[in-house]
Amino acid sequence: MLAKSLLLAASTLVAAASQQLVLSSPPTGNRAYALEWSERTFLLNVPAAYVHGEPHPLVFSFHGAGGYSEKQQRITELSDPSLRIDGKPFLTIYAQGVNNTDWNMTHIWKGAPYENKTIQYVFDALDVVSRTYTIDQSRIYACGKSNGGGFTALLACRPDTSAIFAAFAPVSPALYQGTYSFHNCTPSRPVPIFHIHGIEDTITPFHGRTPEEGSFGPEPDVRLWRRQWSERNGCKGRYEGEWAEPSVEEIHKGVWEEIWDCPGGAEVRAMSVEGLGHAWPSTLGLDLAGKPNQTANFNLTNPYLVDFFSRHSLPGPGHSRE
Ligand SMILES: *[C@@H]1O[C@H](CO)[C@@H](O)[C@H](O)[C@H]1NC(C)=O
Ligand SMILES: *[C@@H]1O[C@H](CO)[C@@H](O)[C@H](O)[C@H]1NC(C)=O
Ligand SMILES: *[C@@H]1O[C@H](CO)[C@@H](O)[C@H](O)[C@H]1NC(C)=O
Ligand SMILES: *[C@@H]1O[C@H](CO)[C@@H](O)[C@H](O)[C@H]1NC(C)=O
Ligand SMILES: *[C@@H]1O[C@H](CO)[C@@H](O)[C@H](O)[C@H]1NC(C)=O
Repeated sequence: MLAKSLLLAASTLVAAASQQLVLSSPPTGNRAYALEWSERTFLLNVPAAYVHGEPHPLVFSFHGAGGYSEKQQRITELSDPSLRIDGKPFLTIYAQGVNNTDWNMTHIWKGAPYENKTIQYVFDALDVVSRTYTIDQSRIYACGKSNGGGFTALLACRPDTSAIFAAFAPVSPALYQGTYSFHNCTPSRPVPIFHIHGIEDTITPFHGRTPEEGSFGPEPDVRLWRRQWSERNGCKGRYEGEWAEPSVEEIHKGVWEEIWDCPGGAEVRAMSVEGLGHAWPSTLGLDLAGKPNQTANFNLTNPYLVDFFSRHSLPGPGHSRE
């Protein structure tokens, strides 16, 4: 009798194990997530080339104010199946912001009453995805546009979030005071930064704005903000008080790339794009927020963004930063 029930139990175990095997390769494609305990949502894209058990990079992409997950997927083209980071197919979380009743705006990232909740959301989303999919925890990245770019910059400045993301790419970021672009920026380490901004941007102006100029200013001149990052990342001028100079190259017509390759620190890379408005650069002009100047003569995502991410990973166990 006992032996029989043991056998039964054993066969149940076998059945459970084989069911586990079937379940163990989670679905690919676009998957809508809702975090039950916080009423927050995100869209996860898992490429068809995903192989369960092999570590994959993960990208977080944050939309602009009033945007949403699907729009961010469309304008960034980060789910293009041909893309690779460090030679591997990667997953993308298209995060979605909260509704801010004070501003009467849907889906935003900045606003004092929500900031705390918003940061926790990033940890929650990472946790949920990491429990189902095999994620390389040393290759998690953040990028975002406009308000979501400002949020990306905030994540780079916080000791807790700068420790989990390997690199950050804010695109036309809205650098409000709450993103720590003026003070309180205290990353846990020198963090790789790639900043892209259209010079014709009228929504988050390249040259910054004063509080009197509205839109929740002030915002810094992005050239100053880049220099602050170069200093924070260990670049030094020739004498006390002098900023380090970047190398500058025109990589496409009117596209100026600046690189601060800080010794022993982390790279600060920037693109200033002539003729481009408030847009994620693409030759297809997919990001209408930049109208009428939303079309670039290069694609940011492929190759520049995936190449930038490919170059950076968090130091693994046994590795130390010199
Ligand atoms: C935000 O508001 C929009 C429009 O009213 C609604 O569709 C959406 O579900 C709301 N999102 C949250 C997280 O409350
Ligand atoms: C908030 O936005 C909605 C939709 O755009 C509009 O109908 C409503 O009048 C606005 N409310 C306030 C207080 O501005
Ligand atoms: C969020 O707010 C709570 C309560 O005010 C506080 O205990 C917690 O430390 C805050 N978390 C973050 C990440 O700021
Ligand atoms: C912006 O776009 C308009 C319409 O295509 C064009 O005429 C204008 O030259 C562009 N501005 C700049 C600064 O490139
Ligand atoms: C940019 O991407 C689009 C769509 O993915 C593609 O059609 C176009 O050829 C790309 N442009 C360049 C310059 O690679």
